[in-house]
Amino acid sequence: MRVQRAVVVPLPDRDDGRPGVIRTILMIEPLRPTSGATADDLAHQLHEIRGRTRQLTEDLSTDQLMGPMLPIVNPVLWEIGHVGWFHEYWTLRHAHGEAPLIERADRLWNSSTVAHDTRWDLDLPDRNGVFGYMSDVLNRQTDRLGGGVSESARYFYELGIRHEDMHVEALAYMRQTLGYRRPDGLSDAGRTAGPWPGDVSVPGGRWRLGSTPADGFVFDNEKWAHEITVAPFRIAAAPVTNAEFAAFVEAGGYRVREFWSSHGWAWRERVGADRPVYWQQRDGDRWTWRRYAEVDELAPHAPVMFVNWYEAEAWCRWAKRRLPTEAEWEAAALGEPAPDGSRLADVKRRWPWGDAPPTREHANIGLAHNGPLDVAACAAGDSAFGCRQMIGNVWEWTASDFVPFAGFAADPYEDYSQPWFNTRKVLRGGAWATSARLANPRYRNFFTPDRNDVIAGFRTCAL
Ligand SMILES: [Fe+2]
Repeated sequence: MRVQRAVVVPLPDRDDGRPGVIRTILMIEPLRPTSGATADDLAHQLHEIRGRTRQLTEDLSTDQLMGPMLPIVNPVLWEIGHVGWFHEYWTLRHAHGEAPLIERADRLWNSSTVAHDTRWDLDLPDRNGVFGYMSDVLNRQTDRLGGGVSESARYFYELGIRHEDMHVEALAYMRQTLGYRRPDGLSDAGRTAGPWPGDVSVPGGRWRLGSTPADGFVFDNEKWAHEITVAPFRIAAAPVTNAEFAAFVEAGGYRVREFWSSHGWAWRERVGADRPVYWQQRDGDRWTWRRYAEVDELAPHAPVMFVNWYEAEAWCRWAKRRLPTEAEWEAAALGEPAPDGSRLADVKRRWPWGDAPPTREHANIGLAHNGPLDVAACAAGDSAFGCRQMIGNVWEWTASDFVPFAGFAADPYEDYSQPWFNTRKVLRGGAWATSARLANPRYRNFFTPDRNDVIAGFRTCAL
């Protein structure tokens, strides 16, 4: 049970069955930075992300809305009710002081107190009841926002929107995990851009890792930017591709003990892995894989995805490479060279390509496509050092453990980061199913190293 709980989905639930840790009353509410979004912006974002939630769930059958009890998924019916509850809890109840819409809502949907394995056995409302509850909450939020929004309330609206962003991504990969049919209304990714091989050089120097109040809404684990020293390094211009990963599989890499750490080998032995989880068979020089409920050809030049940290680590040992630290990842994404090229300049970009908000030319995010593009795509999104696709396509595992920055203090949603420090690895950059609000280059995602159900790949550094 303890071991199982350790792999229970850490994001977006962050649930660990710890009771009473979300504070409902704050005597002094400090101002927290926000994006500065207007009330109209917030209402628009709420409706837009709810459209995604519905798009990924409304076509599911009653059985699929419950689904099998697995440590890495939630019942969909529970999960979407929980999304509505989270909005209600932090905005209508916490920020505005309203009474609960459903009396037993906390007992059903508080992920901090409702143990994961019990979520299949709750007296949840039926499909219409859950969707109706979500709509009721959204309508009340919309009404409230019609009267404007205070700075302190804005923080909680932004928290709820990002929380729904996380669950939208989780719903997308849940459909892959459970082999449900591909979601309607999403366009397939183009497959013509090809490979993007080679390394780029990043000079060493001082780097300010983390976020600042000027970055707008930030999660507690990003606080605050602090200076560190980075040694010069060489990093791949693009993530590892399916073709590059296939070479490791075909070389028997899953059977060679020396490529694996002891924990990685123990995972491999436990699950019997001899290839990435959804890969099926080799046909000539092409592999097939299970994509949703179908079998598809594996795109050779798309980034490998649905590999866990152990598989990334083993590939690196085989290829005589290594994973970047999260500081290296951030410097490669957001740094610029000093004029003489000898060190990192005292500059930190907002996005790899500069200040402009992301477009489809920069990054494959926000379910613009139903899958990853080839690694040579999105040239307009290159960093100053020539790293492509630092944002979007696939999350990238880093070498770094998920640890608090110095001076860490939990934000009101106390279970967001704190319970998971030191047991997760950091991922950066966002995936094709990640919203632009989370696929920002300062956001620290985190999962246990055995998770191969999340939309993660990796890029590597030269030794
Ligand atoms: Fe959640």
